[in-house]
Amino acid sequence: MKVIGITGSPRAGGNTDTLLKALLEGAASEGVETEAVSLRDYTIAPCTGCERCRKDLTCTRFYDGMHLLYPKIEEADGIILGSPTYNYNITPEMKAFIDRLYPYYRFTGVRPGPYSSFFTSLGRKALVFSVAEQTKPAERGFVIEAMQRPLEALGFEVTDTLPAEGYFEKRAIAGDSAVQERAREAGRRFARGLI
Ligand SMILES: Cc1cc2nc3c(=O)[nH]c(=O)nc-3n(C[C@H](O)[C@H](O)[C@H](O)COP(=O)(O)O)c2cc1C
Repeated sequence: MKVIGITGSPRAGGNTDTLLKALLEGAASEGVETEAVSLRDYTIAPCTGCERCRKDLTCTRFYDGMHLLYPKIEEADGIILGSPTYNYNITPEMKAFIDRLYPYYRFTGVRPGPYSSFFTSLGRKALVFSVAEQTKPAERGFVIEAMQRPLEALGFEVTDTLPAEGYFEKRAIAGDSAVQERAREAGRRFARGLI
C-alpha cells in the first residue's frame, strides 16, 4: 500500500508542510509506504483547455512536471492533498495541479453528459486538509471543498478532511503538538482504511 501526500504551499517548511509530515508519519506507522511531494518543486503549467487529452488520454500540450507526477498518482492507493488558504481558496500551485488531472476523465460524446474517470471503481481513497489564519467560517473560505469535489468527481472516496485554523506564522503549527498529533492520528486512520 502506498500513500502520496501533496502540498500546495509555496512556503517551504511552513504550516502545510508540517501538517503533511505529521499525516504521513501517522500513515507510515501503520506500515504503508509514503511519499511527500511539494508542488513548488515541480513546474506545472496551467491547463489551457485545448481538450487534446480527451483523445490522447494524457497531456500532450505540456511535457512538464505533471508527467513526473502522473505515474506516482496512478500507483498510489491513497492520496492526501493539502493547501494553505489563499484568499479563501487553494493556492495557484494546487489549482494548476488539480486542473491538470483532467486527462484522467473519460467523457462520453454527449456534452453536457455523463463521464467517468481512470480512477472510477479502483477504490482509491483520499484525505484533504487545509491551513488558514482565520477561524470564522466566512473568512477561512472553501479550501477543503476546492480539493474534495474535484477528487470525488475523479472517483476518489474522500474519507476524511482536516481543516486547521488559527495558524499564520510560518512555524505556528510546528509549535502546536496537539494539532500535529491530531494529524498523525488522521494519518493512521487513513492508512488503516486502505488495508
Ligand atoms: C496571499 C495570501 C492570502 C491569504 N489568504 C487567507 C485567507 O483568505 N484566509 C485565511 O484564513 N488565511 C489566509 N492567508 C494566511 C495563510 O493561509 C496562513 O498564513 C497559512 O498558515 C499559510 O500556510 P503555509 O505556512 O503552509 O504557507 C493568506 C496568506 C497569503 C500569503
